[in-house]
Amino acid sequence: MEKKKMVVLTGAGMSAESGISTFRDSGGLWEKYRIEDVASPEAFAKNPKLVLDFYNLRRKQLDEVQPNVGHLFLSRLQEFFDMFIITQNVDNLHERAGSKNILHLHGELTKVRSSKYPQLIYDIGTKAIQLGDVCEKGTQLRPHIVWFGESVPAIEAAVELTAQADIFVIIGTSLNVYPAASLVMYAPAGSRKFLIDPNPVEIPYGLKFTVIKKSAGEGTKELEKLLLSI
Ligand code: OAD
Repeated sequence: MEKKKMVVLTGAGMSAESGISTFRDSGGLWEKYRIEDVASPEAFAKNPKLVLDFYNLRRKQLDEVQPNVGHLFLSRLQEFFDMFIITQNVDNLHERAGSKNILHLHGELTKVRSSKYPQLIYDIGTKAIQLGDVCEKGTQLRPHIVWFGESVPAIEAAVELTAQADIFVIIGTSLNVYPAASLVMYAPAGSRKFLIDPNPVEIPYGLKFTVIKKSAGEGTKELEKLLLSI
């Protein structure tokens, strides 16, 4: 029998139990830093060292954290479903948990690119980059991250995937950031839709989801029970 297509949209809450801060919860990253100081092209133009250091710290943190049970659960589900993960997260925890089809909407910490030639992208793992580190054409390297005010090149592929979902699951995102949040409206009317989050989340366009009001780890266990008894 052909496997059903399951598309999962994840956000910072997915990695919270691994010890990576979310952005908008109390104690979240955007309480400690101002978005406009570290996550915009203007910030990089004005104070590139501050921006590089912010992402160097976050990249280094990847060496100190592990995938949590929620990540592992999603990777196990690949056995039962044709699975695709669309993540807003820039960490590599879905990959490290063994998930295969992962689309990073907002970029990846383990990659950098030329600040002048965007097609020149390099894997650097968890190494730091400094002012003066350049691409093969001699231009400063920057994080391979989608900053505020920049376009989201992967959104078209994400829309296409979402539009084919039999099951669409949202985990750990406040759905505050567009165009990621707009993906909810592309899930087919007949698809089963679930949202896992311990806190209330306003779903755009008044769409109806089955809400599992739990953390990613606990919520994914419950999802497994619900799905595997389809
Ligand atoms: P937010 O910080 O906006 O939302 C995190 C969500 O995770 C909230 O709804 C929390 O209730 C939920 N949460 C907290 N702990 C959880 C847990 N243990 N299990 C499950 N959920 C939990 O993060 P995002 O929605 O991912 O963009 O933010 C979207 C984008 O805004 C990010 O990709 C980032 C940020 O600015 C860029 O940096 C480009």
